[in-house]
Amino acid sequence: MLQVMAEEPINDEMQDSSKANYQLTREEIISNILIFMVAGYETTSTALAYATYELARHPEVLQKLQTEIDQLPLSNGDRSDEETKEYPDYDVVAQMPYMDMFVSEVLRMYPIANVAVQRSAFEDTIIQGIKIEKGTLVHADVYSVHYDRDLWGPEDPNQFHC
Ligand code: HEM
Repeated sequence: MLQVMAEEPINDEMQDSSKANYQLTREEIISNILIFMVAGYETTSTALAYATYELARHPEVLQKLQTEIDQLPLSNGDRSDEETKEYPDYDVVAQMPYMDMFVSEVLRMYPIANVAVQRSAFEDTIIQGIKIEKGTLVHADVYSVHYDRDLWGPEDPNQFHC
């Protein structure tokens, strides 16, 4: 695929990105592919490893997920049975509330890429008595939110709930 794009005429000239006919430059395509690889690879594999771990510890959750999967059609009808034999459509997968809960609970207990979650204040702000000056880059303390008893109680946030 990279080879095909390298052969296509991609405009490397400076362009106005607000224009409707703006084309991505070769550098922009390459750097976005790199970001997708870096941001998407380890995060997804680590999340799947934790999901598998919790499924091994909670066979009843595995059973409920399997039931939800079995109840869904593989396709909404716009693809042939042959095409959907192995993998269901994305919009079918998106209609799985229990799967959604399960993935959310995995990522609550095992938040990934926390170091990437940073924010800077538009204006001087005070949050729970802590003064944050305008423009200061703040690393979010994801764990203290995900394990806050006031937010998740009465259930014990140290336990997997699904
Ligand atoms: C379970 C899987 C993943 C997890 C846990 C995860 C986690 C994160 C986190 C915590 C951030 C920072 C968000 C923030 O600052 O609010 C982020 C940003 C980002 N992720 Fe992921 N990610 C996952 C999968 C992916 C995949 C598959 C891709 C691309 C193929 C991707 C691409 C990106 C990009 C481009 C950003 C930067 C977004 C921005 O700054 O606007 N991520 N991700």
